[in-house]
Amino acid sequence: MSEKKFISIAIDGPSGVGKSTIAKLLSKELGYVYIDTGAMFRTLAVYFNEHGIDAADEKAITEAIDSISIDIKYIDGVQHMFANGTDVTDRLRTEAVSQIASITSQYGPVRAKLLDMQRALAKKENVIMDGRDIGTVVLPDAQLKIFLTASSAVRAKRRYDQLLETGKLGGASFEDILKDQEERDYRDSHREIAPLKAAEDAVTIDTSDMSIDEVKAAIIDELGNFAL
Ligand code: DC
Repeated sequence: MSEKKFISIAIDGPSGVGKSTIAKLLSKELGYVYIDTGAMFRTLAVYFNEHGIDAADEKAITEAIDSISIDIKYIDGVQHMFANGTDVTDRLRTEAVSQIASITSQYGPVRAKLLDMQRALAKKENVIMDGRDIGTVVLPDAQLKIFLTASSAVRAKRRYDQLLETGKLGGASFEDILKDQEERDYRDSHREIAPLKAAEDAVTIDTSDMSIDEVKAAIIDELGNFAL
């Protein structure tokens, strides 16, 4: 019996470009499951951080990786991440975790651990998956690949406003946010394995001057090209 084929939509792009906001909205509208792969790298980062494992120490990270079990569960439609049975969802979004996730996602064993999980999730149902390498590596056969971009300043401003709004700025200035973001962008797009880049068959959308609704509409327009 042949496996049932599900639809996958890949959304890639740099930090702060609005991938998750757009992907969440689309997933609701289409009834697809939204999978935030950045949250998986962040879950490992929380573990490394809380166990005093230096992100720069590739050997120590590689040794630790087998002792971490990661689970993803949907609670009231929200993706929750578990590391060794503990729900760490609330700890994923700090600047420290962002940097550790960016550094440790360069290492082959870290990526390999998550790659199988990501592919398995897309085999079970229709998904919208966002990340850096979804269209290029994780789901090269995705029916629709979107690559979102926006200028560095626009993205940092969005992030700054979001942190301010949620009371998570912690004294950081706009320049701090911009600098951290530029560091991560550079690392994410220059690493050897699965760097951030648009797949050849991706549709690139520059969201710098677009509202969320406009971006969503542009993607829905692209979706019209195949039967849902
Ligand atoms: O999307 P995010 O900011 O939550 O991702 C955090 C880090 O995880 C990002 O800096 C790089 C890494 N990442 C990755 O390497 N590949 C992905 N598919 C998703 C995230």
